[in-house]
Amino acid sequence: MTAAPVDPTSTTAWARLTALAEGFAPDLRGWFEQDPGRVERWTHTAGDLLVDLSKSLADDDVLAALLDLAEEVGLAARREAMFRGERINVSEDRAVLHTALRLPRDAPPEQRPNVDGHDVLPDVHEVLDRVYAFAERVRSGSWTGVTGERVRTVVNIGIGGSDLGPVMAYEALAAYRQEGLECRFLSNIDPTDAATTLAGLDPATTLFIVSSKTFGTLETLTNARLCRQWLLDGLRERVDGDLDERAAVAQHFVAVSTALDKVADFGIDPENAFGFWDWVGGRYSLDSAIGTSLAIAIGPERFAEMLAGFHAMDEHFRTAEPAGNVPVLMGLLNVWYGDLLGAQTHAVLPYSQLLHRFPAYLQQLTMESNGKSVRWDGTPVTTETGEVFWGEPGTNGQHAFYQLIHQGTRLVPADFIAFANPAYPLADGEDDVHELFLANFLAQTRALAFGKTAEEVRAEGTEESVVPARVFPGNRPTASIMAPDLTPAVLGQLVALYEHITFVQGVVWGIDSFDQWGVELGKQLAQQVGPAIAGDADALAGQDPSTRALIAYYREHRRR
Ligand code: F6P
Repeated sequence: MTAAPVDPTSTTAWARLTALAEGFAPDLRGWFEQDPGRVERWTHTAGDLLVDLSKSLADDDVLAALLDLAEEVGLAARREAMFRGERINVSEDRAVLHTALRLPRDAPPEQRPNVDGHDVLPDVHEVLDRVYAFAERVRSGSWTGVTGERVRTVVNIGIGGSDLGPVMAYEALAAYRQEGLECRFLSNIDPTDAATTLAGLDPATTLFIVSSKTFGTLETLTNARLCRQWLLDGLRERVDGDLDERAAVAQHFVAVSTALDKVADFGIDPENAFGFWDWVGGRYSLDSAIGTSLAIAIGPERFAEMLAGFHAMDEHFRTAEPAGNVPVLMGLLNVWYGDLLGAQTHAVLPYSQLLHRFPAYLQQLTMESNGKSVRWDGTPVTTETGEVFWGEPGTNGQHAFYQLIHQGTRLVPADFIAFANPAYPLADGEDDVHELFLANFLAQTRALAFGKTAEEVRAEGTEESVVPARVFPGNRPTASIMAPDLTPAVLGQLVALYEHITFVQGVVWGIDSFDQWGVELGKQLAQQVGPAIAGDADALAGQDPSTRALIAYYREHRRR
């Protein structure tokens, strides 16, 4: 039985936060000047991450009230329920155990969850071992295609959580990839995605991984069928028409899914399928067999290091005191910004080109999790929920949208992520370039926090008429996350950090962060609109006038 959510607005902490927000006069300049201990008090470590929250738009009173809020809404109990394997995903009646995916084989009893009395850890490691063995075979060339040639390209076919995590991590860990073995990622049902992903590939050396938790996702199954056709057509040409299709599919297609029966229906040998469980949400599945393409690219050892990184952050979240618990603090600060100070978006700005897909990955993680209007007992939420996450790597963003963050009218809290060392060894003389890059990260967070006053602008000899345009108000909140290097372990820690931040916010709002019913209606309607586009008069009549007009435009302009 899941306890009813506590309405956050009914807590005494919320009343204090509301009062603090009403009289709030943020003054990061003053706070830093008057409080030499602020940086030390507001900086924490979690795993290999150093997290400086001193440039948050909050003072000690706000922080104390936020920590009380966490206590009043029962954050600790809910966190324990998740780690224990309780069915906290109530609308789907499922446990939420992505944290079990990264438990070491010999995890002590207090870390081992069970689902309905079943210890899931042996199952997790049995699949991991199979994924690792398969990855080794592909990497070493002992797994071959049907013509006996080794695999040169792995194409992961999946969407949402079955795509965004693997592609983000593949990009982030580019420095760890095996040479001569490329991964590509096919997600969109737009046929141009398949065309561009397959362009230039040799079917004889291409391996497809069909990744789908449900194995029922239209985009993925459509793309998988397109790829199967492309494979068989291409191979037939190579072997002069004498092709054993079953053998070809068996050697060139593997699958990752919780629905192994549907995998077999598709024609993929269940021997070549890697399973996972309904207690792993799609957007929390990078560290399950969904990461098989990544395991092939970086190898089992590095993949295991990534899992250890996830686990280190899990343990920090599970055991650290709230006042030093980074996911707790960052989640609570997000509640403060979004619910009490009115922020509607949250920027994530990696100062690492290799993290260029990280914001997109976080969009699914945070927005599919917390974009909800009802609580886990079905009652309406009592606060705003789920801010819009977005971002781009610095410094590119600086020359695009930072203007609005610095001088716009909206409050945009931003997380900056940077590494002491570049991922690739630098050539002679390039050290300075990395330092210049880091200088930009430091300069931006400083400018956002402390701004530039009219007096400072005038002191530069600026003509009075343009002084207002050149003033920076400051008091724009940032969190600075640093690590020595972007290693697999650090990537695991970063992802787990945001998973737990998302969880903390969801608990405060009383929502089930693990279902995603909001994506269903569009899927259903697409099934009805399909025949209307194809010309079915009854289906067309069932559409609204706008949809009918758009279909008419399409039919008038299509060239076939
Ligand atoms: O439609 C949303 C969603 O269910 C996501 O939650 C999920 O990550 C994605 O679709 C893909 O689902 P599947 O892995 O089952 O193909």
